[in-house]
Amino acid sequence: MKKRLLSTALLMTLTACQIPAVSNDDNQTKTMKQNTIPEHLDFSKLTGEKRSFELGGQTIFYRAYENIVYVANPVDKAYQTMNIYIPEGYFNNQTINDFNQDTAPIFFPNGVGGYMPAKAQKVEINKRNNQSNSLMVALSKGFVVASAGARGRTLKNETGDYIGKAPSAIVDLKAAVRYLKANDKAMMGDANKIISNGTSAGGALSALLGASGNSSDYEAYLNELGALKASDKIFAVSAYSPITNLENADMAYEWQFNGVNDYQKVSIQMLDYNVERKLIKGTQTKEQIQLSDKLKPLFANYVNGLNLKNHHGELLSLDKNGNGTFKTHLEHLLIKSAQTALDNGTDLSKQTWLKIQNNKVVSVNFDDYAKFIGRQKVTPAFDGVDLSTGENNLFGNAHTDNQHFTLFSMTHNTAPNATRVSDNSVKMMNAMNYVSKDTGAIHYRIRHGQNDKDTSLAIPALLALKLQNTQGKTVDFAVPFGQGHSGDYDLEELFAWAKEISIESKQANK
Ligand code: DHB
Repeated sequence: MKKRLLSTALLMTLTACQIPAVSNDDNQTKTMKQNTIPEHLDFSKLTGEKRSFELGGQTIFYRAYENIVYVANPVDKAYQTMNIYIPEGYFNNQTINDFNQDTAPIFFPNGVGGYMPAKAQKVEINKRNNQSNSLMVALSKGFVVASAGARGRTLKNETGDYIGKAPSAIVDLKAAVRYLKANDKAMMGDANKIISNGTSAGGALSALLGASGNSSDYEAYLNELGALKASDKIFAVSAYSPITNLENADMAYEWQFNGVNDYQKVSIQMLDYNVERKLIKGTQTKEQIQLSDKLKPLFANYVNGLNLKNHHGELLSLDKNGNGTFKTHLEHLLIKSAQTALDNGTDLSKQTWLKIQNNKVVSVNFDDYAKFIGRQKVTPAFDGVDLSTGENNLFGNAHTDNQHFTLFSMTHNTAPNATRVSDNSVKMMNAMNYVSKDTGAIHYRIRHGQNDKDTSLAIPALLALKLQNTQGKTVDFAVPFGQGHSGDYDLEELFAWAKEISIESKQANK
């Protein structure tokens, strides 16, 4: 048995406690410099507060450690903080849901929406659906919970400089992971079993956090913040509605929605999935339709360049009209989604895009599906030619609020004095660029609602395929029927998956 549970009294007497800042989850980590944790970043110096909440007729007791600044040189203390919650039973050597104080995985949810700044999440009722939030459900199932805040695209310092543009948010989440790894011995839970969770922009960051573990690309940023010297590789990823692969998402969107010219747009302030979204109706202009016609055919080149295969080993590609095996693959995902709904008794009679015979969904027409769910974003969906999107805002810099991030939109720019962000910043925000056999998280659970039109279904599907095509990864990807752009709607299933992967890996290590 490793680590911890020195009595609180003993902890108080230890002043400059020498804790190796590195956990032993891989060779790369082992070779990293060992250092002493400065006192203000040392978890063993903290005293938690005993609290409880009710869930399903049970009282759940836990200990709360809130507002922990997780880096030595914070840029914004309101956001670069973490809340840590530990089931009380672990302080009495109890077993909860087959986990104990040493083996409990660490659930790592972020509250990022719209690439906006996000505070560390708390144990509280989810305001959107009036249900226990993911942190509460996690604690009730014996997970240790750590939620980190992160900087976002609108954040400014006192002198008016922007301090949360890309890649700030992912750097912050990595720094928080390093805090957990460096403090693994002092803290209950297993920092080799960090399972991140997020929705939309937060889902994209969750996937990126998983894919890019220990990548040297972020090192300089982490050093500047005074992040602890430790691994930032996590164990598993849960991503709902990930708004990822931004540099290819415009093409994907037009491949899906070209020809669908009426839209119901969400106003930019409302992009964040956390807030109630206002829809504005409109029709694409002639210029937007022309841009759509130019973007759509570019997507085939991108897909074909990825060389991805389905689970039968068949190459997934698209022809010059945008048809082919990749499109068929998405149709299969939708058939599966609809069949599950049908089996659960959902009425599908109004879903004109699918064919049902004898209680079997026999076919789906992807073009009809796109028309049926409808367009939500005008062309280009992400890199707006007028620099008006949330993503233009994400890729600004200290002194420039909005920038382009694709050559296409830079070329078709309509805004005065427009500039384009460096390719490196764009690269560092995209999980697709980091998926590789020997690095990053092992397990991925990805969900994209069948009714989600914030990005093309192709985007999460390509991420899932890239992971499935990479040795050593497990991927659970599904398209829940009737679900829109949302997350945390199936927490029972989420934590069943989280338990299964955690226990499986314990057995495999024996
Ligand atoms: C989110 C939604 C979007 O449509 C988008 O482009 C970026 C982020 C979100 O809800 O987080």
